[in-house]
Amino acid sequence: MAFISQDEINNIRSSVSIIDIVSSYIPLTQKGKNYFGVCPFHEDHSPSMSVSEERQIYKCFSCGAAGNVFTFVENYLNISFSEAVSLIAEKAGIRIKNNLRTTKEEKNKEEYTIMDLALKIYQNNLNAETGDKAIKYLNERNLNEIVRKDFDIGLSLDGNLLASLLIKKGYAETMLINLGLINKNGQIINDTFQNRIIFPIHDLEGKVIGFTARCYLNDIKPKYLNTKETYIFKKGNILYNYHRAKDSIRLKKEVILVEGNMDAIRMYANGIKNVIALMGTGITKEQVKSLKKLRAKIILMLDNDDAGETATYRIGNILEEEGLDIHIVRLNGAKDPDEYILKFKIDAIEENIKSAISFMDFKLNYLKKNKNLNSTVDLSEYIKSVIENLKNNNDEILKEVTLQKLSNDYNISYAVLKEQLKTEGKDKRKIIPDEQNKKRKSLYEKLVDEILYFMMNDKIYIKLYQTRLGIFPTKKERLIASEILYYYETHKNINIADFIAYAETTNVKKEIMDIIESVDIKDITESAMDELLKKLKKRIEDDEIKRLKEKLKNEFDPNKKIELAEKLVEIKKGSVESESY
Ligand code: CTP
Ligand code: MN
Repeated sequence: MAFISQDEINNIRSSVSIIDIVSSYIPLTQKGKNYFGVCPFHEDHSPSMSVSEERQIYKCFSCGAAGNVFTFVENYLNISFSEAVSLIAEKAGIRIKNNLRTTKEEKNKEEYTIMDLALKIYQNNLNAETGDKAIKYLNERNLNEIVRKDFDIGLSLDGNLLASLLIKKGYAETMLINLGLINKNGQIINDTFQNRIIFPIHDLEGKVIGFTARCYLNDIKPKYLNTKETYIFKKGNILYNYHRAKDSIRLKKEVILVEGNMDAIRMYANGIKNVIALMGTGITKEQVKSLKKLRAKIILMLDNDDAGETATYRIGNILEEEGLDIHIVRLNGAKDPDEYILKFKIDAIEENIKSAISFMDFKLNYLKKNKNLNSTVDLSEYIKSVIENLKNNNDEILKEVTLQKLSNDYNISYAVLKEQLKTEGKDKRKIIPDEQNKKRKSLYEKLVDEILYFMMNDKIYIKLYQTRLGIFPTKKERLIASEILYYYETHKNINIADFIAYAETTNVKKEIMDIIESVDIKDITESAMDELLKKLKKRIEDDEIKRLKEKLKNEFDPNKKIELAEKLVEIKKGSVESESY
């Protein structure tokens, strides 16, 4: 596997101008030193994104999106970081070897190799004699050889076959346990998955990181057993079939969200390729984020039961709050899309998809459930719940149309409805989540973030940090600072655009990007950094003084009391000196 070094990445980055690349996707206009454009990462109406020629980064002042040329194309085209590097290299006319892998992928190389190997073993089990019964089961479910190959379906046997094969290959027992493949009870080692059909689960880039395993010999609980949380498998981050579906989603600008992996497999195998499974009825922030990146209309097609209906309402609301365009399909006559297709064929489900209703229309129906609209109390509750739902919606026309419809359908004065929405809407102004995050940061966190941000920009700020402060008081900041220092030491220099590319390979990528997105500084100067360092030092000393005073209050040993008092004087003296440098 070819490996691309940080220096090569930096070389690629500096052979293009971020202005040229960004302006090939969105129009930019120059204003002073910077360029501005309409931000593609949120519903932007005026140019909120600035792109800096000098620093080779972009930043949206409205939604906070920020990064370098690689993260721009990564997020704009919804491709992986390594794909973004390849693409930019191509534009720059720089040849890099095939199978480009970033250092991030290199990092857990052995883990991924083991997961691939485990999958191979499972597939062999299925395709050898040991798989006869499972093949029969799969055939009965209409999962033929082509589907089995396309989805890398395998089979786990009983006992510890997988464990012994992998251990024989020289892989450490603890590694296999940590990956959730085997478990150890006393001295007894067993495979985690036994007598189950194996479906590999891939991360968003397509690497195998875990498995979901279905019983097939009899109805054993749980029906599906999943890989436990490991450091490469985070169930909350994955969307089943994402890596296969994303090209088709990009093309169609539409994604169909289903509950079960079997639903996704069935649809994909029948040519509806823009399908992703949630693997249940829950949805996490991370998953929402990945869906948002697709910038596609979402069609929710969950199971045809009460749980599926409730989940449609809940998930729809979560996605709607993120500004996504949601449509709903409720299937009739089968329990889920898989069954529906087997029963009514693919054309029938395509018809359903074509006539998907808007989320608002779904809600108008859903909120009626269990209500007798001939009863005045029920009717008024219903109207109020619809208005409650409308106030979180940003679509003014939709609000208008819905109010009109309510007014007509139930013979209620339009003016009254409008007034009600106005008063309801007032008390809960919508706060977009990014802003919420920004607000939640304490002054201390902001201060530290700003110092770290300066350090990412130029070595002079690293030197200032080293001489004036030396170390951060809290662990999270120390981790980020150590990455900055490591980068500086290995490259003898630092700039924010290259550091962003490096951040990709660290364990604190998210934290680093969060700082870059939340810090908003116009003047990056030595005197500004000086101010920040002074403030932080003062803050650390104040905290220490507070702590010592508290200790002094509770200390009864006279010797120790003197010791503490001396320490206090020392700190107070130091802080006076530092204030006057
Ligand atoms: N699921 C799970 N653990 C379970 C049951 C379900 O993780 N014990 C997840 C699986 O990802 C499953 C999804 O929830 O695909 C939906 O569950 P369900 O509708 O019960 O499964 P089906 O997709 O209908 O599975 P099958 O058709 O194989 O019975
Ligand atoms: Mn099913």
